[in-house]
Amino acid sequence: MRLKDKRAIVTGGAGGIGAASSKAFAAEGAKVLVCDKNRDGAEAVAAAIRETGGQAWSFGLDVRRAVEVSAMVSEAESRFGGLDIIFNNAGVFHDDDVSVTLTDEEVWNFVIDVNLKGVFLGCKYAIPALLRAGGGSIINTASFVAVVGAAVSQSAYTASKGGVLALTREIAVEYARKGIRANSLCPGPINTPLLAELLKDRRARERRFVHIPMGRLGEAEEIARSVVFLAADESSYLTGTDFLVDGGICAAYVTPESD
Ligand SMILES: NC(=O)c1ccc[n+]([C@@H]2O[C@H](COP(=O)([O-])OP(=O)(O)OC[C@H]3O[C@@H](n4cnc5c(N)ncnc54)[C@H](O)[C@@H]3O)[C@@H](O)[C@H]2O)c1
Repeated sequence: MRLKDKRAIVTGGAGGIGAASSKAFAAEGAKVLVCDKNRDGAEAVAAAIRETGGQAWSFGLDVRRAVEVSAMVSEAESRFGGLDIIFNNAGVFHDDDVSVTLTDEEVWNFVIDVNLKGVFLGCKYAIPALLRAGGGSIINTASFVAVVGAAVSQSAYTASKGGVLALTREIAVEYARKGIRANSLCPGPINTPLLAELLKDRRARERRFVHIPMGRLGEAEEIARSVVFLAADESSYLTGTDFLVDGGICAAYVTPESD
């Protein structure tokens, strides 16, 4: 087991990538605190893990609120006796987050608050706990859109994910000699509830698929396997990276023809 006896927090744990990663952590022997603003959803994931013999508990919070993020870390430490891994993964899209000139300030603030401030708060309160445990691994969910531009703009979302890359790099460098590794995870388009609504529209779907060399969406379980790798000691020399798991999107200029 690659995460035997490791103690982990996963935010956005009720959603596609968070649920798959919580399950993958537990299957590798970790104790997992499944955290989400959707408390019932987080508890359902934790219960499913327990049913298969894993160790998981749930915690409801809004990652935008410092007092709740601090309480989440305290809960993990008191329940598990320490913290080794935090996967700051909660994130949102907003339908009115579009081109810069058309995006309202309230929409901008909301998306930045969840996707970037939420990651900042997760790191702020987890780092002292990781240091108390003698080190650990931070994985922050960014996105491939932080690396390449798109003409279907989501200005606040893209900016928030670019901020995650920069913040994670700073943390990686600052704590590299203190036993903490920090990496950004950059998924490509993944088959989760977050994308499902958008991809119902055939034209929107085709517009995106043409740019994926592999010609398909990724599955949450494929992301979860990378998250386990970043969390586990097998990635011990890996820190400060923008870890792309994107079906080749960011490598592509012209993609293969469909046969
Ligand atoms: N699905 C994709 O194609 C894709 C691609 C790249 C990056 N991502 C990123 O991956 C992460 C997970 O996305 P997903 O696809 O699993 O989406 P999802 O919508 O299935 O899951 C997101 C989870 O975050 C939770 N959440 C939202 N706001 C929160 C808040 N303020 N406090 C606590 N929890 C909150 C939601 O309740 C939900 O359970 C996000 O950061 C997203 O931006 C997703």
